[in-house]
Amino acid sequence: MGALRSYPCSNHPHNPNLLLLAFTLLLLHFAPFALLLPTASACSTIVAGRKATDDGSVLFSHSNDGAGDVPGNIHLVVSANYTTPCTRSVSRGSIPQVPSTFQYLTEGYAIMNENQVGLGESTCTGIYTASSGGGILNIVDLGQIALERSKTALEAVKILGQLAEEFGYYDNAESLMVTDPTSAYIFHVLSDSTGNSAIWAALKVPDDHVATVMNAFVIRAVDLSQDELFSTNLLSEAETLGWQPNTNTPLDFTLLFSKDNEATCKYSSGRRQWAVLNELAPSLGVDPEYDDYVTSGYPATFAPDIPNSINVTVMSSLMRNTYENTPFSMALFPELSGGPWKSPSRWTTPQAVDNATVCWERPIATFKSIVSLVGSSSSESNIGGTVWFGPHSALTTIYVPFSPNMNHLPISHTDNSLSSLNRNVSAFWASRFLYQVSEIKSEFMLADIRIAQSELEAKSLKLQEQLAETYDGDVQQLTDAYSRNALDAVSAWWAISDTLVMRYADGYCNGCGHPDVGRDIGYDQDWLDSVVK
Ligand SMILES: *[C@@H]1O[C@H](CO)[C@@H](O)[C@H](O)[C@H]1NC(C)=O
Ligand SMILES: *[C@@H]1O[C@H](CO)[C@@H](O)[C@H](O)[C@H]1NC(C)=O
Ligand SMILES: *[C@@H]1O[C@H](CO)[C@@H](O)[C@H](O)[C@H]1NC(C)=O
Ligand SMILES: *[C@@H]1O[C@H](CO)[C@@H](O)[C@H](O)[C@H]1NC(C)=O
Repeated sequence: MGALRSYPCSNHPHNPNLLLLAFTLLLLHFAPFALLLPTASACSTIVAGRKATDDGSVLFSHSNDGAGDVPGNIHLVVSANYTTPCTRSVSRGSIPQVPSTFQYLTEGYAIMNENQVGLGESTCTGIYTASSGGGILNIVDLGQIALERSKTALEAVKILGQLAEEFGYYDNAESLMVTDPTSAYIFHVLSDSTGNSAIWAALKVPDDHVATVMNAFVIRAVDLSQDELFSTNLLSEAETLGWQPNTNTPLDFTLLFSKDNEATCKYSSGRRQWAVLNELAPSLGVDPEYDDYVTSGYPATFAPDIPNSINVTVMSSLMRNTYENTPFSMALFPELSGGPWKSPSRWTTPQAVDNATVCWERPIATFKSIVSLVGSSSSESNIGGTVWFGPHSALTTIYVPFSPNMNHLPISHTDNSLSSLNRNVSAFWASRFLYQVSEIKSEFMLADIRIAQSELEAKSLKLQEQLAETYDGDVQQLTDAYSRNALDAVSAWWAISDTLVMRYADGYCNGCGHPDVGRDIGYDQDWLDSVVK
């Protein structure tokens, strides 16, 4: 299904036939989402302000990391007009509908709307999770409604906050990167102490800064002079927790409202933040070790060493980061855990060692990803906002551009299922298949895959440049060009798996310096030394 239609709700709620019709239409509307509601509790997000990027666009990235139980898809929700007053259904009830809504892209979590307002979600740990309170909104509801209703990032922040406070937020603590062509905010929300409302705060990311949220809150001292950027209950909730107003103690959102530090193991959040700091601002020399995330932690935002240097390629490469060229490289750390082929994968490990959970390093790029993406909002480009979207792991996916203005999306990216591997059109399985293939000889194959990704993604960048030269607002032209590009990329991507199997069959590297003759690769020396005594 390419486009999901929104249906006008009835303004005659007492007519049972109309109610039944509205209910049926609602089911139709939400059924496809029910299959892909994100169950993820782990996601990586990065944002770069317009003066941090090389073309003045605001960039954000998001990975939705799950547990292998949801396929990666993207959908279009079209704009709609409603006869108000009427209601919009949400996960635990309904709220008043607005007269008209904007079109947006969603992967379960809403991504970007036709006004180029973008959202990047990451679940955090919060002291309150009011599953038994009166709240009716979760993070999926909030994101979708914000994109249905907002023209700017600030407007989206206010909508998110006001709805959460008024109707109550019952979900896990969450963070959203909220962007538009000129600004970026970090938005944090959790349920309040009663379960009937919400506590939230937002931080404007300075234009020349970058920020990351990796499953843990990052907003520290809330600027109490900016009262449009935090919930009305923030001060009272903070006082309940022992914060003292009228002293010089800042209201530290992360310190007050985070629960138990990082979501799983120590460094599961902080290390990913450090990786981005280390890549973009090595001059800061930030320490990868700390005592405690919540009391020490990293700055919420930072200026990269090179101003105006971040672009979609840099963001994609950060989403593919597995700590390479650092002491924590998944290929090597802990020693030999990557096996003879230096795999970056550490599968979910149910077994304990010495009765303790195994705490593998948690990199940004992971096999767990349902989707990952880079969003670009630009006031300069005449083709508007772009979502560079890749189902499954960033390591082996191919990002292709989509626009929230398209009128249809290609089946390759909308109809993927876990139980049917369609070699012709499934973008999700093209990446997932390639990931499994890459495990045969990770070190070699992932290097080849990087080259293929950069060639194919350069092709999409080129297409976008060409489109921008001639684009006159013809949405069909945009839809056709992006759809053809996506289908071509998927078919090229399936071919990579076969190429790599041929190249590295049976422990040889075929065509590495000796045409048609296999070169023996043998084994990694350290691994060999450790097993041959
Ligand atoms: C909504 O109404 C506006 C103004 O009447 C109209 O221009 C627009 O096409 C309508 N949108 C839809 C999706 O029906
Ligand atoms: C993106 O930025 C990197 C680093 O600043 C640069 O090397 C690369 O050429 C840029 N890519 C494009 C397509 O402009
Ligand atoms: C693991 O737990 C069991 C049961 O409590 C205990 O008997 C055993 O000694 C523990 N093993 C280690 C290595 O701590
Ligand atoms: C493969 O996909 C293309 C593009 O969607 C379609 O035109 C073609 O019919 C498909 N072929 C098969 C064998 O399914």
